[in-house]
Amino acid sequence: MVRAKNKLRFVCRECGHQEFKWHGRCPGCGTWNSMIEELNTDRGKRSTAFSESRPVPITTVTDVSEQRILTGCGELDRVLGGGIVPGSLILIGGDPGIGKSTLALQAASAIADRQLLSLYVTGEESAQQTRMRALRLGVMTESLYVLTETSLEHIKNYAEKLSPKLIVIDSIQTVYTETIPSAPGSVAQVRECTAYLLQMAKANNIPVLIVGHVTKEGFLAGPRVLEHMVDTVLYFEGERHHTFRILRAVKNRFGSTNEIGVFEMGGQGLQEVSNPSEIFLAERPTGVSGSVVVAGMEGSRPMLVEIQALVSSSNFGNPRRMTSGIDINRVNLIAAVLEKRVGLHIGNQDAYVNVAGGVRLTEPAVDLGIAVALASSFRDIPVIQSAVILGEIGLTGEVRGISQVAKRIHEGVKLGFGTFIIPMANLSQCKDNGNCKIIGVETVVEAFELALGVSA
Ligand code: TYD
Ligand code: MG
Repeated sequence: MVRAKNKLRFVCRECGHQEFKWHGRCPGCGTWNSMIEELNTDRGKRSTAFSESRPVPITTVTDVSEQRILTGCGELDRVLGGGIVPGSLILIGGDPGIGKSTLALQAASAIADRQLLSLYVTGEESAQQTRMRALRLGVMTESLYVLTETSLEHIKNYAEKLSPKLIVIDSIQTVYTETIPSAPGSVAQVRECTAYLLQMAKANNIPVLIVGHVTKEGFLAGPRVLEHMVDTVLYFEGERHHTFRILRAVKNRFGSTNEIGVFEMGGQGLQEVSNPSEIFLAERPTGVSGSVVVAGMEGSRPMLVEIQALVSSSNFGNPRRMTSGIDINRVNLIAAVLEKRVGLHIGNQDAYVNVAGGVRLTEPAVDLGIAVALASSFRDIPVIQSAVILGEIGLTGEVRGISQVAKRIHEGVKLGFGTFIIPMANLSQCKDNGNCKIIGVETVVEAFELALGVSA
């Protein structure tokens, strides 16, 4: 065949689609400028670790979820769905410097602390650097092995010799397999190495935690192509200049993807934050306009956070809108509803909306909170004391029902909030237990009157 002679090929770093010619736009997934050059290689030499498997009745298959390994780090265990499933392949992605290596090392050492052997393979730092980091984290145990190696074949040898309970590969972009000639970090290497690790994990029933880098553009054969192959994909995120870090599962074959873990990066590594609401609200100013407390749901856990808005008249023809932690389009939509349905003329105003603490709110249930924050800042009237505001806003200015109201209110009451402005549709689901005031609203205008004490 003519094609076999083609030494070069072009691979999309987003979806892994292959072409023999360069394309400005990937024909596979439509991403622009994502095709990169790779050497075409013979992939026929793959070992066959699974060749011995035979069909068996499903009832006789051993249930591995029962043997989950608890890392001892509560937040991580929860995100994983209750511990690490043996033989699973877990990918942790995140921006450089966010704390992936720290988290991976802490997980490995937490397991090692319980006299279970764990192997931390690093291709990025020396063993000395890892030791320094471990000292800083206060984790020094003999059951934690460090290996500075980038050859996958060698890693496999050691893994088989030691048979650890957990292997950490930090990072997948630094390891390579000798079976293909591409450079480490290229799409082909990353994909091939992951496939290799997958076989290793399943064949020996050892869980493997892979660290992967993503830059803004999902560059460096970002873990995108890996997401299909691994069992669990976790993203570690947070604002670089904030100390809070949030671990989010975007794919999990062994648990829910709704759970998040909250950590705080401190002098001794990542500390678990088991009561995030309290910490997110700690620095909240009182009696100032533009600040609203909302209760977002993160998985099964309600979390109170503060939304801050600043609306000021614009010096330019085109007003600026900036957000952090909230989708800017959502804010634009809410601003449009305020303009048209409430008669609040903020169309020619600059508006800045922040979520305190570096949290990201994606739920529509925080719409009403954003709207009240904008109105409060615009009118320069603070929101009434100790109020939590909940509700989704429709395009006609109506307030629509949200999910799990009772849980959110419960969290608010726990933290001393006394007034809850919620959608009328949800009012019947909440029982008034006497120590708080729950008010249902049907429109944004009603919510303003209640929250700001004046008519909009
Ligand atoms: P790191 O885990 O190396 O990030 P990644 O592997 O995702 O690139 O973490 C790097 C950052 O974390 C670095 O800026 C320093 C900070 N850090 C602390 O603040 N405290 C600590 O105890 C440790 C280990 C790191
Ligand atoms: Mg690192």
